[in-house]
Amino acid sequence: MIITHFSADGFKNLKEVDLTPSPQTNIIKGENAQGKTNLCEAIWVLSGSKSFRGTKEKDLVGFDREYARLGLTLKDSEREQKIEAVLSKNPKERKITLNGVKQRYLSGLFGVLKCVIFTPEDLELTKGSPDVRRDFLDLCVSQIKPRYRKTAQNYADILAQRNATLKNIQLGRSKESDLEIWDGQLARLGAYISLIRTQYSKKLWQFASRLYDEISGGKERLELGYVSTVFDKISTRDDWQVDLCRRYLERLTEARGDDIRAGFSTVGVHRDDLSVMISGISAREFGSQGQNRSAVLAMKLAEAYILKEETGEMPVILLDDVLSELDRSRREFIISKLEDMQVFLTCCDRVPKIAGKRVTVRDGRVK
Ligand SMILES: Nc1ncnc2c1ncn2[C@@H]1O[C@H](COP(=O)(O)OP(=O)(O)OP(=O)(O)O)[C@@H](O)[C@H]1O
Ligand SMILES: [Mg+2]
Repeated sequence: MIITHFSADGFKNLKEVDLTPSPQTNIIKGENAQGKTNLCEAIWVLSGSKSFRGTKEKDLVGFDREYARLGLTLKDSEREQKIEAVLSKNPKERKITLNGVKQRYLSGLFGVLKCVIFTPEDLELTKGSPDVRRDFLDLCVSQIKPRYRKTAQNYADILAQRNATLKNIQLGRSKESDLEIWDGQLARLGAYISLIRTQYSKKLWQFASRLYDEISGGKERLELGYVSTVFDKISTRDDWQVDLCRRYLERLTEARGDDIRAGFSTVGVHRDDLSVMISGISAREFGSQGQNRSAVLAMKLAEAYILKEETGEMPVILLDDVLSELDRSRREFIISKLEDMQVFLTCCDRVPKIAGKRVTVRDGRVK
């Protein structure tokens, strides 16, 4: 998949940006605070995911502007698609269309523009808390299985209701049997999520371990595995609707006493993790900076390859400020792996020695 045209005006500091990118590498150069990351963020936001910087939608609009206008045309293996978005500080005035069809939210665009982004903060993927890895898994899977995204949202809603009931039981306003209605639904959704995340983690391990092998010159081994708080073992052949759902419900029932005391749900997919081990030791606890960086690179590249394998579309790659952080061999490795993809990469003064279209960003304008 390639972006054939991109425009932005009033998105953060971006002004009158009108780009016809190269189908291969696009190098976005500029001094600090000129708008390079904003450009990546503008593209990313059109993929229908939340800002990778955690910016709220209204703050995507330039400080001194009423509206942010974004436009993007992409070509995938089947057709050309057009996205247009006018974002406003007043959410009621938001206007988003996909191929001319109105969308209520940016999330309505999800699944059209497939993107994988690398930023220096991605180091959190191995170093950070489990929720970073759960979000990563959920995003990866959602890009492949649109249904999963809805299920994960439903799960979060039901979980909030169950937790509210737990609090009410503590306060004597609800009784224990009031949990049953939530437990049944949570078990069903949780069983499905557990199975899908486990299957994805297996695939991620296959792809990422091969890549890690290459980065480390075969000296170290990367192992990834899904860690469930509900199941000791999940076989990817398990039927989630029958067996996993039943075992999930049993586990929720077992945990009721603890949950009522805690006032929240202590087990479930919202507490699960993805373990990242390098040659048998936890990357998070004992890995060096370089090992963690390599593990993250391998996992992100694996995400892109799996996306291609599962959907037939090679995602667009956004590399914000990452090349300068890597040593030469890792830099060469990643560049060699991105050969047949459209890449947008940002850098300050040290422009990497690679072929590609070069543009400069200054004060929000692109030249
Ligand atoms: N809503 C907004 N409206 C206008 N300007 C904004 C808004 N949000 C952020 N900015 C400004 O945009 C400028 C460019 O930010 P950006 O993060 O894109 O810089 P950058 O070129 O990536 O710099 P660096 O090399 O330091 O990463 C910053 O000065 C920032 O304060
Ligand atoms: Mg930046």
